[in-house]
Amino acid sequence: MKISYILGVCALSATVMFGASSLMQKAKQNGLKPIPNSEFELLKIIDDPKDPITEAKVRLGKQLYFDPRLSKSGLISCNTCHNLGLGGVDGVPVAIGNQWTPNPHHLNSPTVYNSVFFSAQFWDGRSPHLADQAKGPTLAAPEMAATPKFIEKVVNSIPAYVKEFKYAYGDNVKINFDKITSTIAIFEKTLVTPSRYDDYLNGDENALSKAEKEGLKTFIDKGCASCHNGIALGGTMQPFQVAGKYKFANVGDFKGDKNGMVKTPTLRNITETAPYYHNGMVWSLKDAIKMMGSIQLGIKISDKDAEKIKTFFKALKGRKPDISYPQLPESTDKTPRPKD
Ligand code: HEC
Ligand code: HEC
Repeated sequence: MKISYILGVCALSATVMFGASSLMQKAKQNGLKPIPNSEFELLKIIDDPKDPITEAKVRLGKQLYFDPRLSKSGLISCNTCHNLGLGGVDGVPVAIGNQWTPNPHHLNSPTVYNSVFFSAQFWDGRSPHLADQAKGPTLAAPEMAATPKFIEKVVNSIPAYVKEFKYAYGDNVKINFDKITSTIAIFEKTLVTPSRYDDYLNGDENALSKAEKEGLKTFIDKGCASCHNGIALGGTMQPFQVAGKYKFANVGDFKGDKNGMVKTPTLRNITETAPYYHNGMVWSLKDAIKMMGSIQLGIKISDKDAEKIKTFFKALKGRKPDISYPQLPESTDKTPRPKD
C-alpha cells in the first residue's frame, strides 16, 4: 500500500549530503531535526507496530474527525476547532465549544498538524499521546460534551461505520470509545507537513533563501532553539516566564502543570495559527517573537532581528496533505438525536 500518498511526503531517494553548510550543521547541533523525507524513516517515528497506520484506518479516522454527530449538539467536530483548512486551528483566541461555551481556562486551540511529533499533548502536557488525547475533547463539557456511551451508540447505530470498522480491524472488532478515539488518532498521525526548511535540513542547500538562512541563524543565536527544537520545533514541556512576566498572564487561570511548565507550541505553520500564546492574546507574530525574548531569554529582540526570525518562520509553512471533505454515512432510526 502506498502510505506516501496518505502522508504527502515526497518519496525522494536518499539525499546526498555532500557539502552540508556550517549553518546546516549548527542547526543540527542545536537539536533541530527535519521531517525525514523517506517514508520508511518517517514511519519509524510515527507508526505503532501494535496498531499500524493503514489506509482503511486513516479513511475511517478522517470521517470520524469530521463527524459532528460525535458531539452532544450534533454540530461540533474535531474540525470545528482544529480546522484543517486553517492551519489546524480555529483562528479565535479562546476555543468555543458546546452551547457557545468558551474554554473555562481561556485556552487557545493548538494546531493538530504535526502533533504526532509532540512528546506531550495539551498546554499542560497532561496527555502523553494522540490516542489518549482524543478522548478529552469528545467528553469535555465546553467542547463536544458527549459521553463514551453516547459516542459508541452513535457509531454503532450507523451500519456503514460498523462495516468500515470491521474492514479496518477485522470482524471481531469491538467498536468502543477507545477504538473510536484511537482511530481518529491514526488519522491525526498523517497530518504532517514537510516544508522547505525540512528540504534544507535534509541536505538541499538551495531550499532556503539567503534571508531565511539568516533568520534561522538569528533564531539559533538568540537561544530560541533551546526550547523550540526537535522535529516539531516544540512539543516538549518547558518553563514559562523564565526571565520576565507575560503581560497577559492574568487572562484566564492557566498556570501550566504542577511545576509551572508549559507545552512549547510547535513553530511549524506558525504564520497560519494566530492568535498566539496559551490564551490567544497575541495576534502579531512579530510581537510574539519579541515577547519571547523578554519572557524566556531576558534579552531585547530588536525589530530587525524579529523580522529576520519571522522571515525564517515563513519557510516553516508546510505542504499539507491533500484533504477532501469526506462523505459521512447517514444516520438511522437508532442514532441518538442531538440535544442542546
Ligand atoms: C471546542 C473546540 C475543540 C474541539 C471540538 C476539539 N478540540 Fe482539540 N483542543 C482544543 C483546545 C482548547 C485544546 C487545548 C486544551 C488544553 O490544553 O487543555 C485542544 C488540544 C488538542 C490537542 C493537543 C495538541 C497540543 O498541541 O497540545 C489535540 C491533538 C487535539 N486537541 C485534537 C482534537 C481532536 C482529535 C478532537 C475531536 C475528537 C478535538 N481536538 C476537538 C479545542 C478543541
Ligand atoms: C525557555 C523555553 C523557550 C525559549 C527559550 C523560547 N520559547 Fe517560545 N515558547 C515557549 C513556550 C513554553 C511557549 C508557550 C507559552 C504560553 O503560551 O504560555 C512559547 C511560545 C512561543 C510562540 C507562540 C506560539 C503559539 O503558537 O502560540 C512563538 C512564536 C515563540 N514561542 C517563538 C520563540 C522565539 C522566536 C524564541 C527566541 C527568541 C523563543 N520562542 C524562545 C518556550 C520557549
